[in-house]
Amino acid sequence: MNKFYLTTAIDYVNGKPHIGHAYEKILCDVICRHFSQRTDDVYFLTGTDEHGIKIQKTAAANNMTPQQLCDENSSAFQQTWKDLSIEYTDFIRTTQERHVKAVQKIFKKLVENGDIYKHSYKGLYCSGCESFLNQRDLTEDGLCPDHLKKPEEVTEENYFFRLTKYKDAIIKHIKENPNFIQPEFRVNEVLRQLEDIEDISVSRNKNSVSWGIPVPDDEEQVIYVWIDALSNYITALGYDTDNPSETFKKYWPANVQVIGKDILKFHSIYWIAILMSLGVELPQTICAHGWITIDETKMSKSLGNVIAPADILKAFELTEPDALRYYMVTSAPFGRDGNYSDNDFKEKVNADLANNIGNLLNRSLNMLVKYFDGEIKPEFIVDGNDIEKAGDETVEKVKNFFDGYQVAEAANAIVEFSNTVNKYVADNAPWTLAKEEKMTECGIVIYNVLEAMRKIAVMLYPYCPKISSKIFTQLSADKNLKYDEITANKLQTGKITEKEKISPVFPRMDSEFAADKKKAK
Ligand code: MSP
Repeated sequence: MNKFYLTTAIDYVNGKPHIGHAYEKILCDVICRHFSQRTDDVYFLTGTDEHGIKIQKTAAANNMTPQQLCDENSSAFQQTWKDLSIEYTDFIRTTQERHVKAVQKIFKKLVENGDIYKHSYKGLYCSGCESFLNQRDLTEDGLCPDHLKKPEEVTEENYFFRLTKYKDAIIKHIKENPNFIQPEFRVNEVLRQLEDIEDISVSRNKNSVSWGIPVPDDEEQVIYVWIDALSNYITALGYDTDNPSETFKKYWPANVQVIGKDILKFHSIYWIAILMSLGVELPQTICAHGWITIDETKMSKSLGNVIAPADILKAFELTEPDALRYYMVTSAPFGRDGNYSDNDFKEKVNADLANNIGNLLNRSLNMLVKYFDGEIKPEFIVDGNDIEKAGDETVEKVKNFFDGYQVAEAANAIVEFSNTVNKYVADNAPWTLAKEEKMTECGIVIYNVLEAMRKIAVMLYPYCPKISSKIFTQLSADKNLKYDEITANKLQTGKITEKEKISPVFPRMDSEFAADKKKAK
């Protein structure tokens, strides 16, 4: 692999970041960190979606200019990503000049290609979706099924994009490329939506929406926010219709574009048609994740159950985000919906990280100190044992799961390996071997466990970068994160630790305490 380009959805800035947004960004950060262990050339793009009626209205309701609202909330998103150790390569804001100019050129190109025409239109617009809806999409009461709000009747003369022209080509591409839409169970949903697709409006009249990118050569219209937003994936790389940048040529097409299931239609149909019209290569994979609920209930402002990631860290008095990162991305199997609850969070972290992995490390290091004064002796290292083999198999399994972006499944494989190592310790009872003065056998068992812990630290790094680093330190291991060197790069002989150096890397979490603190807020 020579490069890896991943994009996230860009978040609307009409509100502050919540754990639904965080779920996606953590998922993407974990994927990018894993691939950074396999290539030096990872490009991770995220950002904020800052135009449209929703932002215009929220700003007006708060007595702010739209730009003030965008600046304030885009900063809040960036701060949250920092708090969660999300290390993106670039953060694009759709109000930035680099984006605005490139989008206008894209629009012009679509016009030149004959794919845009003017048309009088009457439709139902949902500002939550920033999209026109068909009558058949609505609930029995005539509401948008996602936002449970009545869409607004709009009559306008707008620019339309010839989406129907690309229908057959999109269907063909989806059918010929089984990895194009992931998970696979989403493919039929997209094919069904394609059956009755119509041309789409790609501009709005300035009298209805003024906060948007002006249509080139038409004072009256602004570019439809989804055309503006989707283009970010290439404008951030410096795409220019006449003269694409070196960065664009190097990284595009994206290896994977990660989005929520609610916006799959925009990405697998609208976006693909635009790229086809521009003559730009298509992304390799569009991966739709599920949604996170809170205590099994949909998050909503009206229910007052919207949780900010920072509040969770504060309530549990966590000084680093690793436990939350781990919990969030393992809370749902690939592409399925997940749920956040304080109790599950505590239980999952205590079970997998504190009791399983953390405890194993702590016990083995203590035994190494107790029986061998913290020293690994050459006779402890015996190649080709069962634990080494199980470790190498896990390394392969985790890699394969990541190739399919199956982040939760990869984590499960790591924890399963840790279970195997725990069982190995129980079966081989190094404390009994020590009592019987079989010191070489005892040393072999302890070494195998510590060596397994080193492998676990490399595989766990994408999820828990800070804690993984602590494991390396406690093992005095070379902090070599290169994935294809995991097996070769073994723990060396000599004194690796002493009593004072050993401390639990994953402290157990106390949720009753946290829940009380939250109630007191
Ligand atoms: N601005 C558009 C995306 C444009 S991409 C060119 C948008 N913004 S959003 O803020 O509403 O959502 C951003 C991302 O967060 C989407 O992928 C969405 O699916 C995801 N999520 C929002 N709430 C979520 C949950 N409760 N759970 C999981 N993901 C959620 O859509």
